[in-house]
Amino acid sequence: MMNWSDSLSRRLAERRGTSLWRSRQIHQCSNGRFLYASDGQQYLNFSSNDYLGLSQHPEIIAAWQQGAEQYGVGSGGSGHVTGYTSAHHTLEQQLAEWLGYSRALLFISGYSANQGVITALMEKEDRIIADRLSHASLMEAAIHSPAQLRRFLHNNPDSLKQYLEKSCTGKTLVVTEGVFSMDGDCAPLGEIARQAQSANCWLMVDDAHGIGIYGDEGRGSCWSQNVKPEILIVTFGKAFGLSGAAVLCDATSAEYFLQYSRHLIYSTSMPPAQAVALSAAMRQIREGDELRQRLQNNIRYFRREAQNLSFVLTDSETAIQPVIIGSNERCITLSERLKQQNLWVKAILPPTVAPDSARLRITLTANHTQRDIDVLLEALRGSDS
Ligand SMILES: Cc1ncc(COP(=O)(O)O)c(C=O)c1O
Repeated sequence: MMNWSDSLSRRLAERRGTSLWRSRQIHQCSNGRFLYASDGQQYLNFSSNDYLGLSQHPEIIAAWQQGAEQYGVGSGGSGHVTGYTSAHHTLEQQLAEWLGYSRALLFISGYSANQGVITALMEKEDRIIADRLSHASLMEAAIHSPAQLRRFLHNNPDSLKQYLEKSCTGKTLVVTEGVFSMDGDCAPLGEIARQAQSANCWLMVDDAHGIGIYGDEGRGSCWSQNVKPEILIVTFGKAFGLSGAAVLCDATSAEYFLQYSRHLIYSTSMPPAQAVALSAAMRQIREGDELRQRLQNNIRYFRREAQNLSFVLTDSETAIQPVIIGSNERCITLSERLKQQNLWVKAILPPTVAPDSARLRITLTANHTQRDIDVLLEALRGSDS
């Protein structure tokens, strides 16, 4: 019989020394703009999803503290047992009202929300048709569900249409994202929604990177493209500056998830203090036009000034500005060179992205200054040798 330790060691040995080896570094803290390593070294941070810099906002921190005073630090159980407080209920109602849905249900993370929704919805004869660059949490849920999975060409409604024209005995769920996490491009949601609707299918949009950034009061990609998917996923680890997620849906679907989503039933709910802080973050986001403007100015500035770099920029006009390098080794070397100049830009490698498309995933935030961006561009120019 195979020994567990031998088996794990063999698999680690296969990966160690390759560019696929992943490791974590200890940081003291980071705030959209700076990251402080464990030795106190300060880096300009171009890898954070804290797009509006809310993770350090004093009113949100105060709300969390006040929530902890009122409710303690943990929820004590799943929402079906002890973990559904007035703080959770209020946040759900605020989210539903803000985004124009009957109901919102909180999950502890975006990963959990995507798993909890897809695995609860899909049955054996059903079909998922997902954009082929959808996030791992969507793809993994689809793969593990009993439904058939088909992947349409990235952001290509014609490819979606071709799949929709093929018959299916069960129900079909079309899945895409508002803003793609590794490429930063936006989905043509209007056309995708029209295709889904005309084929009588449901649309699920994960707007992890669009919520808080696009649309009136930061209502996200769907709102800004005048689309209302049957299932909308919003996450709180990016523009909200915290963590957690919610699914927005109609009353019947919400009741269904409460009965069938194992992630809701068998997992401790988020701390009530976090729900209080999320309500405060939502207020900041709704009133955050100035922050959104600062972010958009930074994106425009970066793209204009980056035009004469010898690197390949993508068409992204969002806070995610990947610089495609191709080779894993070269991408790691570039990331290391930037680090030596106190710039934090993580290399993103396959299998997170397609083979031969390793990239520096640069993210911009409202907290960056134009001088910060100049420093990054200068370093990128100097690194390309
Ligand atoms: C598009 C997308 N969906 C879901 C997630 C997972 O969200 P969370 O970090 O809250 O688990 C991510 C995380 O980066 C993401 O980019």
